[in-house]
Amino acid sequence: MRRFAFASLAFLAVFRGAAQDTLIQHITGRRIESLDGAWQYLVDPYGTGYYDYRHQPMTRGGFFEDRQPKDSTQFVEYDFNHAPSLHVPGDWNSQDPKLLYYEGILWYRRQFTVSVASGHRYFLYFGAVNYAAHVYLNGRPLGDHYGGFTPFQFEVTGLLKPGENSLVLMVDNTRHQDDVPTVNTDWWNYGGITRDVYLADMPSDFIRDYSLHLDPRHPDRIVGSVVAVGPVDISIPAAGLHWTAQPGVPFSIPAPGLKKWSPGDPFLYDVHLRSAGDSVSDRIGFRTISVRGQDILLNGKSIFLKGICIHDENPLIPGRNRGEGDLRMLLEWAKELHCNYVRLAHYPHNEAMLRLADEMGLLVWAEIPVYWTISFDNPGTFAEAAGQLTGMISRDKNRASVVIWSVGNETPVTAPRLRFMGNLADSARALDSTRLVTAAMEVRTQGMDMTVDDPLAAKLDLVSFNEYRGWYSGGLNDIEGVHFHIANQKPVVISEFGGEALGGFHGDSTTRWTEEYQEALYVHQLRLLSTLEGLRGMTPWILVDFRSPRRQNSVYQNGWNRKGLISSDGQKKKAFFVVRSFYDHIHD
Ligand code: GCU
Repeated sequence: MRRFAFASLAFLAVFRGAAQDTLIQHITGRRIESLDGAWQYLVDPYGTGYYDYRHQPMTRGGFFEDRQPKDSTQFVEYDFNHAPSLHVPGDWNSQDPKLLYYEGILWYRRQFTVSVASGHRYFLYFGAVNYAAHVYLNGRPLGDHYGGFTPFQFEVTGLLKPGENSLVLMVDNTRHQDDVPTVNTDWWNYGGITRDVYLADMPSDFIRDYSLHLDPRHPDRIVGSVVAVGPVDISIPAAGLHWTAQPGVPFSIPAPGLKKWSPGDPFLYDVHLRSAGDSVSDRIGFRTISVRGQDILLNGKSIFLKGICIHDENPLIPGRNRGEGDLRMLLEWAKELHCNYVRLAHYPHNEAMLRLADEMGLLVWAEIPVYWTISFDNPGTFAEAAGQLTGMISRDKNRASVVIWSVGNETPVTAPRLRFMGNLADSARALDSTRLVTAAMEVRTQGMDMTVDDPLAAKLDLVSFNEYRGWYSGGLNDIEGVHFHIANQKPVVISEFGGEALGGFHGDSTTRWTEEYQEALYVHQLRLLSTLEGLRGMTPWILVDFRSPRRQNSVYQNGWNRKGLISSDGQKKKAFFVVRSFYDHIHD
């Protein structure tokens, strides 16, 4: 087995074949034109618009040229102008019944005009495209991106036409064993341009990136750095702070008396950055997160993480969240559950979700989709996972709400997996030493004994694991007698537990799939977990029912995973109130 020595993340990003320049930080705070809206589309299951008859990628003649016949005598066998349209952002599965289960190539085309100013730089920015994206502007390839949940951008300075421009994407959501995630997941493989698209109009020398946070060792100081051309003046008027940062030179500024961000008081400071040719403002909260023994400390004080897991899906569409209203609905449901914390499973969510969590006062567990049976011995797969981790941390490093980076979920304990996940944990820490690093581990069940002795825990700040006692293993009477055996003396956070109920289906509590069974399961589970030494948080699985092709019980599921505390039509199940009452009786 070729040992894959872990290299620097920068090398890995290049190695991934997607040598992208640093993402523009806070894209919505820039001078942008939204390219959201109706995009024409062509379904292309055989790749006709990309491959020639020998199945080799075409360099000319493909759909990416967006050609129209010049007159009635000309032969062009595709036509975006008269094609139907899909809404961007949004997955295609939920927008056309013919595409519900579609996995393959689909072409998008957006025409737009722009008045180009000399000396400006222009970038096309994509919030997320699942899974592979090949991007073309006016028939010219800009590049490719792989990975369905992190942003990417291409500079198009000098490539924009004064009149109408044609932006064409070939998107392919086919699953592959060596991808991240791999072929098997318990969520819908929503394909498409699932998040916002912007054309950014930037000054020639712009402030590309910045990071500001409290120094974990000296929480009365703000540390960080900027990526820019020339010095950057930074001011935080409400704190009476103003200093100048030199590009690439870390700064450490005395900041006594800063108001700390917390779920109870999610105070955000207006931060202004100005260079000779650019300026950008952001809203940033300042706080510290750390562990001490088996405790989790927020701003130095013990806190219990009263959480819930959330997928990036609006069940009422149903489909990928399409805008702030969808995101706010999910987080308001979490607040109604009296949460102070959410686990955004199993992949990076929309940036707007993190900004809302900042505003609403919800701590966040953020995660990359290293999920189940990934190709742990494949260096290309590791580079893809490391690239997604880098993209997630780079985008969200200034969000006070994010306190945990998770490098994966329920991965089988093998030597290649331990190396793979251990390297990811190391790289997360190397990129960001201010947050906790963990992963959702598995438990070993033997009768009434549940053991958590995953060697990966040595690399993590938390012992976090998923357990489904009373649903997948045993019944309601097999819950409270469980003995946990946990190998590490670290704070324990239960990253998943729960069971299914079809909303509105009622019966006695011994009948599976009833709300009463789910309610009783939670009563027993919460009694059991309350006895767990070192328990400092939990995120029941899951806030609301979600779509999964794995869930085909034709009476209760029909393509839905019913573990939600809220049903797919937005109704709270009885278990919702059990969890809320439990949280109401927890004191940090
Ligand atoms: C697993 C997994 C989830 C899945 C859940 C379930 O723990 O992490 O993604 O949906 O169990 O079985 O419902």
